[in-house]
Amino acid sequence: MAKSKASYVCQACGAVHPRWMGRCDACGEWNSVIEEVSSSAPIGGKASGGAGRGRPIEMSSLADTGEPVPRRKTGIEEFDRVTGGGLVRGSAILIGGDPGIGKSTLLLQVTARLAKGTRCAYITGEEAVDQVQMRARRLGVEQAPVSVAAATNLADILATLDAPDGPDLVVIDSIQTMYIDALDSAPGTVAQVRASAQELIRLAKKRGFVLLIVGHVTKEGAIAGPRVLEHMVDTVLYFEGERGHQFRILRAVKNRFGATDEIGVFEMTDRGLSEVENPSALFLADRQGEVAGSAVFAGMEGTRPVLVEVQALVASSPLATPRRAVVGWDSGRLAMVLAVLESRCGLSFSGGEVYLNVAGGLRIGEPAADLAVAAALTSSLTGVPLPADMVVFGEISLSGEVRSVGQTDTRLKEATKLGFRSALVPTRRGKSKKSASSMNLREISELRDMVQIFEQGGDHAMRAVSG
Ligand code: TYD
Ligand code: MG
Repeated sequence: MAKSKASYVCQACGAVHPRWMGRCDACGEWNSVIEEVSSSAPIGGKASGGAGRGRPIEMSSLADTGEPVPRRKTGIEEFDRVTGGGLVRGSAILIGGDPGIGKSTLLLQVTARLAKGTRCAYITGEEAVDQVQMRARRLGVEQAPVSVAAATNLADILATLDAPDGPDLVVIDSIQTMYIDALDSAPGTVAQVRASAQELIRLAKKRGFVLLIVGHVTKEGAIAGPRVLEHMVDTVLYFEGERGHQFRILRAVKNRFGATDEIGVFEMTDRGLSEVENPSALFLADRQGEVAGSAVFAGMEGTRPVLVEVQALVASSPLATPRRAVVGWDSGRLAMVLAVLESRCGLSFSGGEVYLNVAGGLRIGEPAADLAVAAALTSSLTGVPLPADMVVFGEISLSGEVRSVGQTDTRLKEATKLGFRSALVPTRRGKSKKSASSMNLREISELRDMVQIFEQGGDHAMRAVSG
């Protein structure tokens, strides 16, 4: 007879403890240890000494049947690209983002678009039905045949969805408001979030509906319910943007049915989210010609080139420890670029406050932005502006080398399209040298070369670069 044994498992790091504790002493997380009951019966077949309950499983070959996975396209190009070309039957998608960023709006627009050929259900635990109806009217989609319900009891929701004429697409807004009666803990706790998501995903696989789950983000920026949700779903999307900016970016961080790193760019309007086909033009719209401290970075977001302005300000500081602040980039990376500029190029930023900002509310993660950041910093320090028609990209190593980055041609092509005439880039080797670009290229292999251009003739030297 199998005996049950309780163990206490940290939901954040997986450490097993002999008793409950308020703070996991393995990872330091608070309130993450919960009781799990495991059976002590051996598993497996007779050969392994087990009870022989398992049946042999059927194995298949790697070659598939050749039929492409059927996908539901929403027709919202920016959304379809991020999901990998449309929504896959039976898949579960988690959409995370700060409160008020626009998750509910986006999903209502998506369901309204799909509702013509697909039975869509929108279940909200955050708002009342008439609030959703009001939003639908504002978005101009109130005629779309979407079924709306306000509910939080998961048993009721499952019973509704598990019907013969059940929906093909279900939105749960948000998973933190859902609860299962049988569990003691409050809605939003790890146990509730995990169990609710598990039940919903199981039903989605069984019935073959697309499940879109909204998940709130904690102060630290992770989806609440420590990582457990991200492992359970097929796709994780983050909806992000800076408050006060009208741009919103949908980013895939995990996708079992497509590439990650793809982004969709939206603009917030009073009639909902509208697609942005040419993000570079939008991000550069407010740029003012030649100003010291500004550099245009030719970046890549997934398969798409995106041009953004990197702004730097170096100001003298009365403080003993001058401030360093970054918006839209990694602060550790900024510290590295500053250190390389100081120790390899002889510049001095110590004693000065340093601010760095990526205009438009985009977050860049590419190391290729190093050189653009270094150029903006040096430009601010020396007071020498970069030519207005110049783009910059390249990775910087700790030794002060400028390293080449991928997709040079795509970056240059996008820059040309937007009217840029020159580029400060890493020295290119071999056959990539002969690329058909009408750009005036200034190739450098050392960061020192860039600093020299600023220091030498200042304005003239930079102009000479841009021809
Ligand atoms: P909402 O979709 O409710 O955000 P979330 O579900 O992520 O919390 O949107 C927040 C607010 O912003 C809401 O009052 C509506 C407004 N909003 C617009 O006016 N236009 C837009 O395009 C979007 C996305 C939101
Ligand atoms: Mg919402």
